[in-house]
Amino acid sequence: MTILGGPSEKVTNKIRNFAASDFRFVVPAHAAENRQARKRLNPLLNLVKTDGVPAKVIAVANQKGGVGKTTTAVNLAACVAALGRRVLLFDLDPQANATSGVGLEKIEGASAYRVLLGEGGLLEKIQRTAFDRLEMIPSEVDLCGADIELARSENHLHRVAQAMRPVLDSQRFDVVFVDCPPSLGVLTLNAFAAADGVLVPLQCEYYALEGISMLNRIMAQLHDTGVNPRLELLGVVMTMFDGRTKLAQQVVGEVREHFGARVFETMIPRSTRLAEAPSFGKPIIYYDKFSSGAAAYELLAQELLNRLDSPIAVPTQKVVAMDEPQAPAVSPT
Ligand SMILES: Nc1ncnc2c1ncn2[C@@H]1O[C@H](COP(=O)(O)OP(=O)(O)OP(=O)(O)O)[C@@H](O)[C@H]1O
Ligand SMILES: [Mg+2]
Repeated sequence: MTILGGPSEKVTNKIRNFAASDFRFVVPAHAAENRQARKRLNPLLNLVKTDGVPAKVIAVANQKGGVGKTTTAVNLAACVAALGRRVLLFDLDPQANATSGVGLEKIEGASAYRVLLGEGGLLEKIQRTAFDRLEMIPSEVDLCGADIELARSENHLHRVAQAMRPVLDSQRFDVVFVDCPPSLGVLTLNAFAAADGVLVPLQCEYYALEGISMLNRIMAQLHDTGVNPRLELLGVVMTMFDGRTKLAQQVVGEVREHFGARVFETMIPRSTRLAEAPSFGKPIIYYDKFSSGAAAYELLAQELLNRLDSPIAVPTQKVVAMDEPQAPAVSPT
């Protein structure tokens, strides 16, 4: 796949430095440049060629709760779709936050639950959203039962992968994002077994790295035991970044030290507009397209696609088990 065009280095740097400045002054200063960036990100100008390229399945996961998994899955999905790719957002979390985040109702029987238990097909569960090129497999509370039901069933780690096969074979999508629940239970393991890569959102806070070694170890096991030999850590994205705090900067430094080039350069700023958008059932680019959050997710989408198109050579990763990284020793700001 080839993408021509992309955000300027200047815009990228502005976003990266965003949180170091005062929000009120930064956003107006960004607006004009963001408009320019958006023109460059226009799908018609980006000349995307995806024919015959198999869809990439990306699990958005971190067993820690509230770190920005759903916010990242919804907004990346919308931004990647806005860049011209055909995107499926698969809500695999019984909380169904991604479902309401794109304005869909939580409807009984609409989730993948029955399909995972062997009834019907996943293609029938796909719903259109109000947004270009973005379709969705919604969730609802019945998925809660999956951890128990699936654990008892045969071949229980491959239920999502099996269900996904006709969806991938249909060649309707270029990228599939799977929003995982905050656990390393059966649903998340199924997402890992079906995925080409795992995208890990990490919140820029003191406990960010806690549990990351467990996530890594499980990915390594799934990889090494042949459950999913394709599985790799696609990247780590820092969320809710507020550069005015020393803590956030130290956490980012620590994470970059551990994960190196796997950490996306784009960081997602802490932004009220990002937190508001789900209550309007809209991804941020449709809720407030000139906000800092919209610009950040657009840049992240571009970075992600570049990474999918030309995977980075990082010597230490495929998936590797690693020692538990230490949280940085910092004093509160
Ligand atoms: N960059 C951000 N700035 C401000 N608020 C944010 C940002 N990202 C996420 N939030 C808010 O933080 C909360 C948790 O985010 P989100 O639901 O995306 O996390 P999650 O990891 O999916 O949570 P869970 O583990 O429960 O599934 C939400 O209220 C969301 O609106
Ligand atoms: Mg979530």
